Amino acid sequence: MFKGPIDPQKFETLIELNVLINSDYSEPRTLLTRILESATRLTEGEASSLLLANKETDRLYFEIALGTKGADVQKFSLARGEGIAGWVYEHNRSLVVNDVASDPRFFGEIGKKVGFTTSRILAVPMRIRDECVGVIEIINRVNGKDFVEDDRQWLEVFANQAALTIQNARSFEKARDEIIRLQDQIVTDRGYHTFVGSSPAIQEKLDLVARVAKTDSSVLILGESGVGKELFAEQIHLQSRRADQPLIRVNCAALPESLLESELFGHVKGAFTDASTDRRGRFELADRGTIFLDEIAELPLSIQAKMLRVIQQRTFEKLGSSDPVTVDVRIIAATNRDIEQAVASGAFRSDLYYRLNVLPLHIPPLRTRQEDIMELAQFFLQRFKRETNKPIRGFSDDAMETLLSYSWPGNVRELENAVERAVVICQTDYIAPSDLVLKDTDSIADARTGDRTLKESVNMFKRHCIANALRTNGWNQTETAKKLDIQRTYLSRLIKDLDITK
Ligand SMILES: Nc1ncnc2c1ncn2[C@@H]1O[C@H](COP(=O)(O)OP(=O)(O)OP(=O)(O)O)[C@@H](O)[C@H]1O
Ligand SMILES: [Mg+2]
Repeated sequence: MFKGPIDPQKFETLIELNVLINSDYSEPRTLLTRILESATRLTEGEASSLLLANKETDRLYFEIALGTKGADVQKFSLARGEGIAGWVYEHNRSLVVNDVASDPRFFGEIGKKVGFTTSRILAVPMRIRDECVGVIEIINRVNGKDFVEDDRQWLEVFANQAALTIQNARSFEKARDEIIRLQDQIVTDRGYHTFVGSSPAIQEKLDLVARVAKTDSSVLILGESGVGKELFAEQIHLQSRRADQPLIRVNCAALPESLLESELFGHVKGAFTDASTDRRGRFELADRGTIFLDEIAELPLSIQAKMLRVIQQRTFEKLGSSDPVTVDVRIIAATNRDIEQAVASGAFRSDLYYRLNVLPLHIPPLRTRQEDIMELAQFFLQRFKRETNKPIRGFSDDAMETLLSYSWPGNVRELENAVERAVVICQTDYIAPSDLVLKDTDSIADARTGDRTLKESVNMFKRHCIANALRTNGWNQTETAKKLDIQRTYLSRLIKDLDITK
């Protein structure tokens, strides 16, 4: 293929890249960046891009862009046939253009928008089994030299290496996504949730779950609304010896007092006017399995004594009967309320509380587990993408930033809803911050609609502005005051007056 002597430096680089490609890498982007860097160095390019084709949209996307304007360039994409790269994609042939100004195929818009002047382009297709899957472009040669035939040949070799890398990464990703999808489906079909979370805080709780699951002790799960308390209850059950038996869920707040008792313990025929037959309660249905008592703090006082006895002796009577029923049940309870306060105020029996609280499990709020935010967001994105069949490629960098800096008062549930909404709203390939309609940004939008007094709107704006500044400065008040150019004491007063909390 090559005429004349082979440049030893180029040959070395090629071998290096081969080693890299065949090594055990996990990040295809890093590898692609290395390939593009080497290619740019060897062709003496000033800037360069690696574009990948998306078959669904039939467009080329700037996957990696090097050079001073690289970061800006990455926002753009090209249609088939658009610009030099689009031409290469359409014709599956490489192209050397040493004077772009006189070439009608050149598309100057991107350069104009980001402020970069292109004079020469060397562009080659990336091929997998003769099909063009992307394009590598080298822009301008240092010292104003022309690109030559030799550069084109070398770049083609590089481009094929890059294509190979992408193919490997794509089949790996496809297999991984498929496994996740199948696991999710199996778990969902069994009536459970797929548990996502690799943050240290959650891993620590899962270690505890693994140990607790082996016992039959009662567990009390505590944490804010939407943190995943029910999913932890599922994990305890699924990791216990009772996993093949039912997990029966009862929401203690969902039923009126009169119905709840018969729901939990069952009744015999004639126990009350509507009791035309005997009925088994949730405790009996959970026999040999686990019962999950959700929102336990809402359990009416009148039922608490009976509950205490079940926990102590696993024995109760059905409504309208005096025959004791004994069950073998593991009890898990949860609440997002301050149950100790309920005990203090007399709304919750202290003896019941101590019985339930043998093993407390505190679930940390989502805002304190940054790793989980991204992992959960990606998980929900895949799920909703599948459900809606939209060709969304991911979150834009700005959108990720928004997700990570938001305080998530509604925790995982709110994140799940936000991603679902974003997938529906999203009109482009990447989810943008504006697709993620979050409360913080909402409140500013509300202020604009003029439904409030000026003072209310100004306070809302102040709160938003200060909370943002505090977040970016890690809640360090001295730093934040400096950035906002106000006295620290004034900032401290504003935080109090505007009721800003971490
Ligand atoms: N670790 C997780 N992995 C995957 N999904 C999760 C996780 N935690 C929570 N979710 C999602 O968030 C939703 C809310 O979780 P869950 O119902 O367990 O919250 P909760 O703590 O019980 O809240 P509440 O106090 O309001 O009842 C779940 O339906 C699930 O879809
Ligand atoms: Mg719940």
